[in-house]
Parts: sequence; structure tokens; C-alpha cells
Amino acid sequence: MTVTDREPDAPAASELFESIAGPIPGPRSLELGRELRRLEARGVTRIARDFPVFWASARGATVTDADGNRFLDLTAAFGVAAAGHSNARTAAAIAAQAERLIHGMGDVHPTEVRLRLMARLAELAPGDLTQVFLASTGAEAVEFALKTARLASGRRGVLAFDGAYHGLSYGTLEVIGIEKFRRPFADQLAGHVRRAPYGAAEAVRALLERDPEIGAVIVEPIAGRAGTIVPPPGFLRALRTLCDRHGAVLIADEIYTGFGRTGAWFACDHEAVVPDILCAGKALAGGYPLSAAVGRRAVFDAWPPSEGEALHTSTYLGNPLGCAAALANLEEIERLDLVARARELEGPLRARLHALAAAAEYGIRDVRGRGAMWALELADGARATRAVTRALARGLILLQQGTAGNVLGITPPLVIGDAQLERALDLLESALA
Ligand SMILES: Cc1ncc(COP(=O)(O)O)c(C=O)c1O
Repeated sequence: MTVTDREPDAPAASELFESIAGPIPGPRSLELGRELRRLEARGVTRIARDFPVFWASARGATVTDADGNRFLDLTAAFGVAAAGHSNARTAAAIAAQAERLIHGMGDVHPTEVRLRLMARLAELAPGDLTQVFLASTGAEAVEFALKTARLASGRRGVLAFDGAYHGLSYGTLEVIGIEKFRRPFADQLAGHVRRAPYGAAEAVRALLERDPEIGAVIVEPIAGRAGTIVPPPGFLRALRTLCDRHGAVLIADEIYTGFGRTGAWFACDHEAVVPDILCAGKALAGGYPLSAAVGRRAVFDAWPPSEGEALHTSTYLGNPLGCAAALANLEEIERLDLVARARELEGPLRARLHALAAAAEYGIRDVRGRGAMWALELADGARATRAVTRALARGLILLQQGTAGNVLGITPPLVIGDAQLERALDLLESALA
């Protein structure tokens, strides 16, 4: 029995699979695309003859577009919809909270629902990470972590990794390692960041020994946007040891990997590593924009006590809708045992993706992943673009990754049923053929 089969509020059996009625995109998506092109800041959505489709609704592991076409989703929309798209219980919690209180008052007048979520996050986070800061986007959680590390270490330097992705705000641009995002703004960046090749503990050791100004190391346990790069075993543990030796704050960016994606609540758990600060987002609230930084008390206590005007806050800090969504969504992850489900999905994903790679005609250069976070590396970006477009036309949503855009990321909603996954991988194969 699959996860989806046992769900009382799961979609009807006839709605579990893709259903494509005509050319993709359909006429309505094309029309909306023309309007979007007129209105949206250029440089956001790529509108082409064969891409994208406008999403109208979604449920579980499927998405329906504005023309009524249904797609299987192998992305969970950037890993967000781990507990399923528009999870019914999360949606009900948002609706109920909206009836009572939509907005609290950030750092001035808090809400109980925010307190409950913070307590839950402190319970779920590894080791002695008991202090919580809430924000809206992943980038904001990372910026809070970087500011905290600056205060706690008293040092301005940060060590980050080639290919790293932590967001696109100015603070996070400093630490990301994907040059195309940094280059246009490089003359406005501070230059306090040192970079090491991802996965190379020896390079980290050398940099920390050479530069006593480095007070923080920020790392993704699996580098998602860089193309789902899994570091060698022991890498995170080595970073923990090196940070302890040099008094640097270890920041684990689990915005992609957190809440079950890799088959553990957090990817750090696989190596029993407790960072000083853990950043979370994406799957936290099932689609409501909410993020968090969770840290050690001694590190967070580097902030001076608030005297009525917080040194770092925002209008929507601890937004009640987001907190209610997250509490319900975390309950769903537990109730449906989705962390175990991610471990269970690893077997079929590994087997099928390796079988695809064994067929020389698909041009697959590498297969890698863990739990329900996988990737196929193709020879170049053009092939990956073609595969994504062809998959869409067949009823499958895929996402391109990698610094050269040549990787297909595979991060299904964790509620995907066995038959749905098999069908999605059939569609993937036919898109590659
Ligand atoms: C590891 C990681 N960190 C940070 C971010 C930034 O999150 P947001 O886009 O919500 O600012 C992302 C987004 O993809 C991410 O994957």
C-alpha cells in the first residue's frame, strides 16, 4: 500500500496520474504568458513557445494547469511540497488561523501560535539547538545566521563553498558560490568571504589556519542548486571538528535538505553533527513563506537583549498564518511518517536512475543523491532544457539545476505513491529518449 492509498483525503484514483489534453502549453497558459511578459520585471520568468504552464491547483504529487492538464511532479516545487501540494490539513490550519488572526506584531506583540512553533522546532532540531529566530524566506534565515555568527565570533570573515546557494539577497550573495548571480553586483559586495571547493575538508583546514579572521563556516549538507552534490562521508564531521578547533561558528543551511528530504529529519543527523546554527525553510510550512534559524543558546546570546526595538526583525516576523501552517505541516510529516518514506523512496529512485544511466543513448554522466533528493547529470545544459520541456509535454514536472544547468533535480513530494513514482520515472525515461 502506498502512502497516497491510505490517505482519507487523498485525490481520487483517477486523479493520481498525468492527463494531457492537447499541446503544452495549452491556449490559456499561452495567453497568460503573453500578459505576464507585459507585466513582470524582465529576467524573472522565461516565457517561450513550449514553456511554462500556469499552475491553477495542485494536490499531493500532481499539479493541474490553467488548461486543465494534469502533471506528475518530481520537484515538490523546489522541495517545498514534501507533505504534498496543498496538503488538506495544512490548508485547513491556515484557513482556521486566518479566521482568528492573520497578522501579529513581529518583535512587539507576539502570538501563542508562534511560541508553539518555536517549541516544536527546538524539539526537532538536533542536539542543543534550542533558540529560534523566525523569518519569511530562506535568504532571511541565512542572513540572520550570518549576523549572529559575526556577533558571536567577533570576526568578520566567512568561509563558504564553490557552487553554494543560500539565496539572492545582498547578504546571501556574499556567500553563494554561483558566479553568474554575483558578477553583476560584485562591486557592491564586501569581499570578506573565502571560498573552498565543496567537499574538500583539507582546503577548509588550510584556509582556517591561514586566516584567523574567519569566524564562520556556512555549508549545505547536500549542495542542492549546484546539482545535488553529495559530499564525501565525514565532510560535515570534519567541518565540525575544524570549527571547534578554530572557534568558528558552523552554520548548516538545511533549507533544501531539512524536514525529511534526505531520509532524516535533518541531513546533519546522518553524521550526528550538531551545527551551531541550522537554517530551515522550504518544506517547513508546506508552501507558506516561512523560514527559521535554530541555534545554540550561547551563540544566539551574542545578540544584546531587546530594549523594545530589535536589532534584527521584520514586519512579518513569526506571522501567525505561517506558524499555524508550519505546525500543521510538521504534524503531517510525522503522521504520514514521511522521513521514513524518504528513506523508502531511495531504493526505487536509485535503482531506476542508475538503470537509465546504464543506457548509453540517454547521455547521463552521473547519478547521485540520498533519500528522496536525487539528480541526473547530463552532458550539457541544452540537453537538460530539452528534457525538461519534453517531460512537461508528456505530463511531468522536472527542474534544471547545476551551475551549467546540465542537471535534472529529482525531489518528489514525499507523499508520492509507488505507482505514481513509477509512472513519473517512465515519463522521465521517455523525455530522455
Ligand atoms: C540551500 C538553500 N539555501 C537558501 C535558499 C534560499 O531560500 P529562499 O529562496 O527562500 O530565499 C535556497 C533556495 O533554493 C536553498 O536551496
